[in-house]
Amino acid sequence: MSDSPQTPLRAYHARTKHHFAAYAEGPGQLDWDAQPAPFRHYPGAPVLELPLAAGRFDRPYADLATPPASPVKPDLNSLGTLLELSLAIAAWKSWGPSRWALRCNPSSGNLHPVEAWVLAGGLPDVPDGLHHYEAEQHALEGRALTLPSSEAPWLAVALSSVMWREAWKYGERAFRYCQLDVGHAVGALAYAAAVLGWTVRPLAMPSATLGALLGLDRAEDFPPSRYAFTENEEAEILLLIEGSGLQPMPEPEVLLDRLAQVAWQGKPTCIDPSPGYRWPIIDQAATASRQTATAETLASAPLFPDYPPLPAHPGTASAAQLIRQRRSAQRFNPKCSLPQADFWRMLDAVLPRPGLPFSAQEAAPRLHLLLFVLRVDGLSPGLYLLPRTPDAGEVLAALAPTFPDRQAVTDAPSHLGLLCLAELGLQEVQRLARALSCHQDIAATSAFSLGMLAEFDNADGYGYSSLLREAGLLGQVLYLEAEAAGVRGTGIGCFFDDPVHQAFGLAGERWQSVYHFTVGTPVDDARLETGPPYPQRQKAPS
Ligand SMILES: Cc1cc2nc3c(=O)[nH]c(=O)nc-3n(C[C@H](O)[C@H](O)[C@H](O)COP(=O)(O)O)c2cc1C
Repeated sequence: MSDSPQTPLRAYHARTKHHFAAYAEGPGQLDWDAQPAPFRHYPGAPVLELPLAAGRFDRPYADLATPPASPVKPDLNSLGTLLELSLAIAAWKSWGPSRWALRCNPSSGNLHPVEAWVLAGGLPDVPDGLHHYEAEQHALEGRALTLPSSEAPWLAVALSSVMWREAWKYGERAFRYCQLDVGHAVGALAYAAAVLGWTVRPLAMPSATLGALLGLDRAEDFPPSRYAFTENEEAEILLLIEGSGLQPMPEPEVLLDRLAQVAWQGKPTCIDPSPGYRWPIIDQAATASRQTATAETLASAPLFPDYPPLPAHPGTASAAQLIRQRRSAQRFNPKCSLPQADFWRMLDAVLPRPGLPFSAQEAAPRLHLLLFVLRVDGLSPGLYLLPRTPDAGEVLAALAPTFPDRQAVTDAPSHLGLLCLAELGLQEVQRLARALSCHQDIAATSAFSLGMLAEFDNADGYGYSSLLREAGLLGQVLYLEAEAAGVRGTGIGCFFDDPVHQAFGLAGERWQSVYHFTVGTPVDDARLETGPPYPQRQKAPS
């Protein structure tokens, strides 16, 4: 990056770094009563309640990577499960007068900028056309219902971001968090689809085309105004759902033509009636990162390194259960350590292989893990590297001068290529991990924490968004693998960028850590009460 011209996204990334001396520009104080609306609705649009799965569809987590003998039939029920196990409310939490929803997908600050959309045709009991997914009620709002067709069933889910939800709290760094959240949501959809025996594949199309398909460019619904930065949504990604007889989606032009012939229904509710400030750099970053390529102009599916297949997870837990119980740990028990076999398994699961969930990512894998090993049985505390892609030689060359005594971890499965860069005392690793992750204890009291390191020279334009989304997807793998191992993870978006690079001796801008994560034994907060996700849908006792 130092040798490359300063493009808008490189400038954005540099400008939104946290430094020991100062955090990236943000609002300072927050009035939580003025939080932007966490749910958007389209009053006036026909509402179709989605069934709740209630255990109807499930598979062992260990089986998810293997296609089932008979995948679930796509219809209203199974579509409900796809959305329920990915983006729906998982529980309500309360403490005193405060009450907040948690969802199956995590989100930076629990602010949930991601909105989801369903495009469908020929699906039993689901009207053809475009629907907005309304997570608060677990329902579809029919935005543009096209004439019923007799075509074979097809299904796609699209994601957009209400960036103001994140910007309101995090200021200029929020664009990064939105992209990480999109990556988590993509991962959440990939795992939920696998429960049904389906797969998820991104379809590249220009952001402008996707925005038009979702109606996000409709001036009558999203008028250009000085509040556009709070109300507008950014079209992010379209995911095709495949399997069980689902056919390819019609060409975007065909769909646009159909949508143009029908009356659009409903009007978007307001996100923030009185924003107190704005961060124009976020709009600039969003504009600079828009996709301009189509599936035809992009190279074919990303290439993956040749790793041996991931063995089935040794646990017997149900996938739906793990997905529903996934939470972010807020505290860890520093007395607990992680069995070595669980650690190897988690590292193996994040190696990019075609299939679940990495075939849902848009670009070739680009991230390596810088590990802060704290409490893993039989492993010395220290700094470690998990190389994940073929350009690992280059990251090793960059790390070599600082870690001349690095050594292969011979106890680890050899295909992991795990390297111990430096053995350090536990207190020193704790000090580093805590300080570098914005002084957060969760980075130091866990079994291990990590930074996701990317080669940044090609991370521009849409490549910048897709890199951050890969990081979010990786985070989603770690969240679920942690639950499957009986421990817990937490994504860490707050870290001091350049001090992380300096701790690993990485000079210049070529290698950048883009997301952190931590895994350990959680300590639950007994003061919080937990309620069901959709209490309004529970049957009254007869
Ligand atoms: C991109 C991202 C960044 C996050 N950063 C932090 C962080 O720096 N510190 C932290 O304690 N939690 C962090 N979290 C965890 C969120 O606060 C958490 O997902 C949210 O409160 C919802 O709770 P849940 O994950 O239990 O559903 C992050 C989550 C995501 C997805």
